[in-house]
Amino acid sequence: MAANRSESPQARLNTLRRRIRHHDHCYYVEDAPEIPDAEYDRLFSELKRLEERHPELITPDSPTQRVSGTPLEGFSKVEHRQAMLSLDNTFSSEELAAFHQRVVDRLGAKVAGDSLSYVVEPKLDGLAISLRYEQGRLIQGATRGDGRVGEDVTAQVRTIRAIPLRLGGEGWPTTLEVRGEVFMPTEAFEQMNEKARAAGEKVFANPRNAAAGSLRQLDPKVTASRPLTLLLHGWGAVDGGVMPDSYSETLVLFRRWGLPVSDLIRSVQGIDAAQKSVNHLETLRQTLPYEIDGAVIKVDRVDLRARLGYVARAPRWAIAYKFPAQEVVTRVQGIDVQVGRTGALTPVARLEPVTVGGVVVTNATLHNFGEMRRKDVRAGDRVSVRRAGDVIPEVVRVVPQDALAATEGTLFQRPDPMAEPERCPVCDSRATRPEGEAVLRCTGGLVCPAQRKAAVIHFASRRAMNIDGLGTKLIDQLLAKGVITSVVDLYHLEHAVVASLERMGSKSATNLLHAVAASRTTTLGRFLFALGIREVGESTAQGLARYFGTLDAVMEADRERLESVPDVGPVVASRVWAFFREAHNRQVIDGLLAAGVVWPDVEGSVSEESLPLAGQSVVITGTLESLTRRDAKARLEALGARVVGSVSKKTALLVCGASPGSKRTKAEALGVEIIDEAAFLVLLER
Ligand code: IVH
Repeated sequence: MAANRSESPQARLNTLRRRIRHHDHCYYVEDAPEIPDAEYDRLFSELKRLEERHPELITPDSPTQRVSGTPLEGFSKVEHRQAMLSLDNTFSSEELAAFHQRVVDRLGAKVAGDSLSYVVEPKLDGLAISLRYEQGRLIQGATRGDGRVGEDVTAQVRTIRAIPLRLGGEGWPTTLEVRGEVFMPTEAFEQMNEKARAAGEKVFANPRNAAAGSLRQLDPKVTASRPLTLLLHGWGAVDGGVMPDSYSETLVLFRRWGLPVSDLIRSVQGIDAAQKSVNHLETLRQTLPYEIDGAVIKVDRVDLRARLGYVARAPRWAIAYKFPAQEVVTRVQGIDVQVGRTGALTPVARLEPVTVGGVVVTNATLHNFGEMRRKDVRAGDRVSVRRAGDVIPEVVRVVPQDALAATEGTLFQRPDPMAEPERCPVCDSRATRPEGEAVLRCTGGLVCPAQRKAAVIHFASRRAMNIDGLGTKLIDQLLAKGVITSVVDLYHLEHAVVASLERMGSKSATNLLHAVAASRTTTLGRFLFALGIREVGESTAQGLARYFGTLDAVMEADRERLESVPDVGPVVASRVWAFFREAHNRQVIDGLLAAGVVWPDVEGSVSEESLPLAGQSVVITGTLESLTRRDAKARLEALGARVVGSVSKKTALLVCGASPGSKRTKAEALGVEIIDEAAFLVLLER
């Protein structure tokens, strides 16, 4: 959209800032962008140019002013006007019931236990932060510190784009101190570590350390480059305004003011309902895009909170319910070398089986030989092992023997460190490590059975072509029996052949063929990801799809053009470019297209019009039981829909899960079609 020429610079600045704030909110808080990144970038650069021409009009809360230029000398101290408290922990429903009993006993006869209102929410694994707004402007950010005195991290928190520099809406108190958790989403954390690993740099042990380490950077530019976000879980000092009587109503206000609040927070009555809510969060745990280490149960009413007070450093009105640990200690039985999709030779620790976050783990990755050496992991060592979400369990560190000797009474003689293999353990091709790279690779390419198998597994995986029921064992058989030699053959499987495989039968074969057929309709992002181009993960693939819109455009782009895609640097650009220049890869792509693999072009193309939800704007609200938000969104997009964050006149459909919020009310008011989860599943089947 061109600037309205009659507009004054000040008016245009206001418009641009308002629009950018709105889109920041959609992107970073609602997780539902309304415009393509390129359009956002255009608005942003227009604002920057205009401010360069009129520096006198720059205000500290302009979206361009998030990152200040000068590193700090050190952090100054901030005394919290109200102490930042901690939480007591519980680990079982009995302990939670005991907490409830203490609350009821203290409150006395005036409150009926069964109907006592609690709020149940995720316990985020990050670090607590306090944000002070004066007249709606962000004035100060501080860490919790010891609860009484923290550190001034104003310049750092200003770089976190989920945090508004000024509040939206109206009616905020003159001084408002909100509190929340700064954290790093799992995928972003993995990507950051992956980059550090490839460069042979130090990696962070977990997202919490990464968040803390990123926030406590004297140079705010470093913080700005780290994918931090925030969700609120309380408030501190408030002056010059009236706050609601309950926490749940306060959260509604926070949302209205544009502050980030989790949509997994639930209000319940009585402790049984609270326990149910906790259990539900636990089932969601592995599907969330960030780590939670438990749930927090809080008395909702503010007057009751005041009567309950606190002991030592924890309130009597709230408690944490901790889930099983994601990091535990076990012993390394031996170290194997696995061959990955791109030939990477990865040392993997075989472990004494151990339960991590509720799942039995027997293997954990050591990532590469350099990292194995740095951590100095050897057979027989006791190590701490971490697992989170879909991520492969990894060895975090060796637990020092001295610490163990005290408890176990013995020291063992450690074997020599494992040497790097010179040849691929599967196909015996030479192993090489290109200059400056951390990873050792098998040079066998698709001749190496391990690489071929890994390529098919990746292609069929949930976030790629999502071929339900095509697991590792089946892929093994298909390759070993020569039924398939490449992923193209998957689309030409014959029922009788599949049915004759071990542990298959007519019914399973039919199901598999259905799943294969269903995978034909996909998205460009998924397709690009499924191809297994080196360095192209899920988000890069989606970035390419969004930027180019069509496969032809991606394939034809030169390296320079590829580098203009957000987050694509010279290395990724040349990998993508080289991939499409290889005849073998082009053949596979042609084969897949000939087999009927299709997707909508990203920006309204002809093929898109034939899809059932082509061009329609769809909103999802509430909790879905049978699939994650991410999957629901992807499935809708595959049907041609645009999934957006807020309901408007233009919304064609609202998918409504359990406990919907204001979006449902708004949709009803606007007469938007609303479907529940059951109807949604039927729609997806169609
Ligand atoms: S409430 C007085 N709510 O857990 C209430 N804390 O173990 C104190 N945390 O210091 C905070 N998620 O850093 C609260 N939903 C949540 C939380 C949460 C994570 C952190 C917070 C706190 C620590 C206590």
